[in-house]
Amino acid sequence: MKRFLFFFLVFSLICDPSLAEPADPKAYLQMIYENKGGYTISDEERNFILKNDGHPQYGEIPFDSAAHILDDLNLSRQDVFYDLGSGVGKLVLQAYLTTSVKRSIGIELSKTRFDIAESCRQQAATDDHITPGRDLLFLNQNINATSLSDATVCFISGLTFPPQLIQSIMDRLSALEHDVKVISILPLPDHKQFKLIKIYHLPMSWASEGVDVCLYTVSPTSAIEVCDKPKKKRKKGRKRRARQEED
Ligand SMILES: C[S@@+](CC[C@H](N)C(=O)[O-])C[C@H]1O[C@@H](n2cnc3c(N)ncnc32)[C@H](O)[C@@H]1O
Repeated sequence: MKRFLFFFLVFSLICDPSLAEPADPKAYLQMIYENKGGYTISDEERNFILKNDGHPQYGEIPFDSAAHILDDLNLSRQDVFYDLGSGVGKLVLQAYLTTSVKRSIGIELSKTRFDIAESCRQQAATDDHITPGRDLLFLNQNINATSLSDATVCFISGLTFPPQLIQSIMDRLSALEHDVKVISILPLPDHKQFKLIKIYHLPMSWASEGVDVCLYTVSPTSAIEVCDKPKKKRKKGRKRRARQEED
């Protein structure tokens, strides 16, 4: 029995992904991001983002606000987390370091912000905070050009995102064949497959008094159709019974 317990302890220590996590993730992120702000970018970069269906405005979700949402979502090793418009990547790193998600991915069009995110990812790798078999990834590309096919959780902090960008994100997520959770600071337009689950009220870098943050679940069309089908069947059944009674 003692030997079993010993092996169990050693095995769980080896397999525990949280071992790669810094002792105090909030302090660690503060340290690696010291003097690295993503607020100022060149006019050239701003215009590039505007011309490419995006918006360059910047703001961040603070660590404690993000921690509240991430704890509530109870993410597992099956989850793939996306921050759509990830800025300097703090949230992507936080999701990676404090949850057991399989992949944490940040998509950002600004090269300046992407470069900061990438340098912090490299720092985390140097500090041995990257777990084998789990990905921490930053892509310097347009959200519109990003396949979201493996996404299970998406964060959209796009208060100023153009409507066509929001629509394109919603179209792609609703076409997936699995459930997705979406956290959005902007209330999303009505959509049959998007169901509002709850509204958090949390401080943001631009609003210490807090803003509403919506949590949606997105279900595949097939799931919606299955829910609709029994009604049609019942109607047919009723018609048949009525006909039989007439006969
Ligand atoms: C409000 S910031 C959010 C930063 C981060 N998600 C956070 O909450 O801490 C939005 C970011 O989205 C980026 N962005 C805007 N349009 C984009 C697009 N079409 N593709 C990729 N990034 C975009 C902006 O450059 C900006 O850095």
